Amino acid sequence: MKIGVIGAGAMGAGIAQVFAAAEGFTVVLADIKQEFAEKGKNNIIASLNKLVDKDKMVADTAKTIAANITPGLPEDVSNCDLIIEAIVENIDIKRQLFNKLKDICRPDAIFASNTSSLSITELSAGLDRQVIGLHFFNPAPVMALVEIVVGLGTTDEMISKMQAIVQQVGKVAAISKDAPGFIVNRVLIPMVNEAIGIYADGTASAEDIDTAMKLGANHPMGPLALGDLIGLDVCLAIMEVLYSETGDSKYRPHILLRKMVRGGALGRKSKKGFYRYA
Ligand code: NAI
Repeated sequence: MKIGVIGAGAMGAGIAQVFAAAEGFTVVLADIKQEFAEKGKNNIIASLNKLVDKDKMVADTAKTIAANITPGLPEDVSNCDLIIEAIVENIDIKRQLFNKLKDICRPDAIFASNTSSLSITELSAGLDRQVIGLHFFNPAPVMALVEIVVGLGTTDEMISKMQAIVQQVGKVAAISKDAPGFIVNRVLIPMVNEAIGIYADGTASAEDIDTAMKLGANHPMGPLALGDLIGLDVCLAIMEVLYSETGDSKYRPHILLRKMVRGGALGRKSKKGFYRYA
């Protein structure tokens, strides 16, 4: 099966690697510029080489996975069977892309989106087919879950097809209807927001909040360290969607979260968030 992954950033590269490593798939990894796609492929090769260095993968396997990935431009996915979009989280840009794909891809090609917060149903408006959500988690090669997000027009047959594909790439699917935050982010991101509230109130230090949740709730990572890892800008964007879509004040982003994002404290990616990173 030919897979087109569009967007060779953190998620797109990870998703491309997942398919390239599974039996029976070849991948076109596309980005807005050829060099971005090539950089995405090089990032995959670098992470495969790390596994080889640590004796977690044999060199031949790494080579085979890399050989399964062809970097290219969005138009190069025209003969793919399944196209997974992992570009910037902006509904207008994603819709533009799907509109272009509709004209160049086969009518039976499946369109999927890795969006973490946008409406799958809205992404499909004006298209000749229903986009399905295939929401991978970061880092995609490591995280076992894929949320299959079902839009208003998604058929049962399409859901079964996606369940089979998710299983074929060694992941586990959870099915969610199209709703803000789907399952994981609707639980996880308000938890990060609440932890920010505890910190902002001066109730506890960042370290104590994280220790408490690690040891008291058996979480592998505390909520503030997790917010830093996800990116505080991403957390804010998801809270905004939960809040604006539901109007429920329980999803209101904490003012400290807004302030940190405005001040460029985005977590690990900006080297400062609730913790400092070298
Ligand atoms: P990123 O910023 O690392 O990568 C996005 C890539 O898309 C870039 O390489 C960019 O050049 C490319 N791009 C932008 N517009 C394009 C277009 N019109 N055509 C082709 N390529 C284009 O972003 P990231 O973090 O990989 O996120 C991608 C998607 O995955 C977003 O929808 C995001 O919400 C979702 N997501 C992100 C997660 C995360 O932890 N970062 C987790 C799960 C989903």
